[in-house]
Amino acid sequence: MPEPVIASVGASPLGRTDLPGRDLFSVALAEAFDDLPDPADLVEAVYVGNQSESYEHQIMYGTLLAEWAGLRHVPAERVEGCAAAGALALRHAVKDVRNGEHEAVLACGVEKMTSAGTSGATDALSAAFDRAIEQRSGITAPSQYALLGQRYLHETDATERDLAEIAVKNHANAARNPRAQFPKEIDVATVLESDPVAPPLKLFDCAPVGDGAAAVLVTSAELAADLDRPQVRVAGSGAAANNIAVAERDMTDIAGARVATERAYEEAGIDAAAVDLAEVHDAFTVCEALLAEAAGFAPSGTGYQSYRAPAERADGWTDVQLSPSGGLKARGHPIGATGLLQALEAYEQLTGAAGDRSVEGAETALLLNEGGVGDAVTVSHVLTTAEAP
Ligand code: COA
Repeated sequence: MPEPVIASVGASPLGRTDLPGRDLFSVALAEAFDDLPDPADLVEAVYVGNQSESYEHQIMYGTLLAEWAGLRHVPAERVEGCAAAGALALRHAVKDVRNGEHEAVLACGVEKMTSAGTSGATDALSAAFDRAIEQRSGITAPSQYALLGQRYLHETDATERDLAEIAVKNHANAARNPRAQFPKEIDVATVLESDPVAPPLKLFDCAPVGDGAAAVLVTSAELAADLDRPQVRVAGSGAAANNIAVAERDMTDIAGARVATERAYEEAGIDAAAVDLAEVHDAFTVCEALLAEAAGFAPSGTGYQSYRAPAERADGWTDVQLSPSGGLKARGHPIGATGLLQALEAYEQLTGAAGDRSVEGAETALLLNEGGVGDAVTVSHVLTTAEAP
């Protein structure tokens, strides 16, 4: 079977932009193809992660971006899974290369959230809730996650200050990431004194609304070598759905994320201890705590210690570093692009292109991208350097 690798990556600016989605994509594509032949001479299929037509009244994003990339008559489709759409696009590209159907596939993601404003984005995101059980209550994404946060604080020793420290850590990482929406350091007081959104979550516990696009070229290892590209192996891919309504799930055992990640580990032939860095879906600070546990990095009830240095975490924690990009919280969270921005960060980390935010000696990365509230759907990937065992 051909071995799928990531051979190139690119992204647009993130945050509030004047560009429509197609132009954000063009910026990401131009970066990804800077040192490569024309996309029309290489790309055999396109998958686009995109959450909602509410932002631009535009569906057919697969066709649109294939056209925008100058591709003719390639298979092209939009992939939907709310905030996991980007990782689903990556997973489709990886499968196409692995099963030999295509040698080069473009996985991309785009979202133009700011055109709808915060209230429009809040409404669009609520479409990912169960319509019969949740939507008609008027609950929002921050208030859904606040319920998880309250439960987590009730069940564990974590405090609101611990959650704030996660935001501080991710902003510090983003300050070293030139791509970040919020490249600035903050302190704990800034988080704790920021405006309440839904208790216990405050403004600085939340990922922002923002625009952005990302492009990831997946090829066979042979083609990447022919193209003389630094390559990162996609060693494992796993996905799992869980009940769509939060009320139908255990709120602090993020079981879908656990299962999807175990599948990715199994395919890669590793366990959690082998992971040097992880980009996890920290849409709200409490998510990082919950996902550190689901990914097997932390014993149950201790995931909130993710901001601490490895030696200061509870027994049983691994040495993993979480979200060196700044995470969704501070790097940014343009929904359909997020899973691919995670892949971009891991590619830069594993090819020595992450500058002063490099995780020293990193050989193995986990990407964990979720859609809906919590793990309504989770997609996990394990990426490794070409040299990793
Ligand atoms: N973190 C840090 N700063 C933020 C921020 C965030 N999440 N969101 C906004 N800001 C800043 C803005 O840059 C702006 O700063 P400025 O005045 O210096 O320009 C200020 O706070 C106000 O921004 P605004 O966009 O008016 O905030 P808002 O009140 O409309 O929205 C939230 C804030 C938290 C409600 C909104 O960002 C949100 O809904 N986030 C969650 C999105 C979500 O659910 N994603 C899906 C999860 S899977």
